[in-house]
Amino acid sequence: AIERTLSIIKPDAVAKNVIGQIYSRFEGAGLKIIAAKMAHLSRGEAEAFYAVHKARPFFNDLVTFMISGPVVISVLEGENAILKHRDLMGATDPKKAEKGTIRADFADSIDANAVHGSDAPETAANEVAFFFPGMNVYSR
Ligand code: CMP
Repeated sequence: AIERTLSIIKPDAVAKNVIGQIYSRFEGAGLKIIAAKMAHLSRGEAEAFYAVHKARPFFNDLVTFMISGPVVISVLEGENAILKHRDLMGATDPKKAEKGTIRADFADSIDANAVHGSDAPETAANEVAFFFPGMNVYSR
């Protein structure tokens, strides 16, 4: 099915100047960028976005990292977009990510891991709505 998923290029990858290389991988896999913006998130925004992880021991480090610099937030659309995007990203921990994935090629650690992607249809819908009101999404 045609799906939508939320992509975040994290502060480490923006600082490395690889936004275009990451976008090329999305486009090369047939994923269409239908919404995009650069933003420097506030602590409150990052805490709200990652609220599902609030009880995890890494929550504070995650939020502090995500507000350490600007990020690029996009909506990707295409056949099987959620899983396709996750395959392109590779495992959360770059040490475990397969060769040729975004995290294997651009990430330094489980915290500075270059990209975020929605993990399931319900979270994708919530994450897209969190950052993009409908009028800012340009499908087809
Ligand atoms: P992300 O896909 O953005 O979702 C939550 C983030 O928490 C994850 O990527 C990692 O960057 C970060 N994180 C840090 N430690 C862990 C951990 N032990 N398990 C999962 N995610 C972690």
